[in-house]
Amino acid sequence: MTDKKKYPRIAIDGPAGAGKSTVAREVAKRLNIKYLDTGAMYRAVTLKVIRESLDLNNSEALEELLDRTSIDLDEEKRVYLDGKDVTEEIRRSHVNELVSPVSCISLVRRRLVAMQQAIAEESKGIVMEGRDIASRVMPDADFKIYLDASLEERTRRRSKEQLEKGISLTKEEVASEIMNRDTIDSQRDDSPLTIVGDALVIDTTGMTFETVVNKVVEVISQELH
Ligand code: DC
Repeated sequence: MTDKKKYPRIAIDGPAGAGKSTVAREVAKRLNIKYLDTGAMYRAVTLKVIRESLDLNNSEALEELLDRTSIDLDEEKRVYLDGKDVTEEIRRSHVNELVSPVSCISLVRRRLVAMQQAIAEESKGIVMEGRDIASRVMPDADFKIYLDASLEERTRRRSKEQLEKGISLTKEEVASEIMNRDTIDSQRDDSPLTIVGDALVIDTTGMTFETVVNKVVEVISQELH
């Protein structure tokens, strides 16, 4: 059996609210391989930047902050910043607002990409989710999936998620936050959100998560068997 068959490496990219996390998690579960949410890592760094009121233009201070930062994600999908559970806090509005600008900084990207590549290297198969997974982190991934959805659909999904967490924002506020992140994430100089030539693009507008997961698993299973 080839390594690809035994230990598939799957990249899932796409804009905010396209359903990447739910789909990537479920695909990893069904294939019984590791799942890594790289957005959570950018969020954890952003939270630390906020807590320390760091000036993003001060690269020396940022480098020093990164030197003393540890980020861990466990099998239960909980996220730890310097050993403390920050799973809920990294999804809050103050982090949403700053995470895209922080993610534009090459210094931050270099560190996190190196960590992500090391995790992929030591894992026996992985589903990694983000913006630059197929283009930068795992350009040699066995499967490259790009999930998209209309702005309206993404706004609806995000609003529902926020409500479930007890955060009440208007549809307009959620849409504007998504549009703002879309613009920054796809226009930045370093590893912008992009669709690589060999990606399978799935527009999930109007599809249930179950249908999307089935489609992704079907494509992968066809190749693996
Ligand atoms: O997937 P998410 O919405 O949790 O990601 C939060 C932000 O992190 C996103 O707006 C851009 C950044 N990000 C990135 O630049 N590269 C990645 N691989 C993952 C996320």
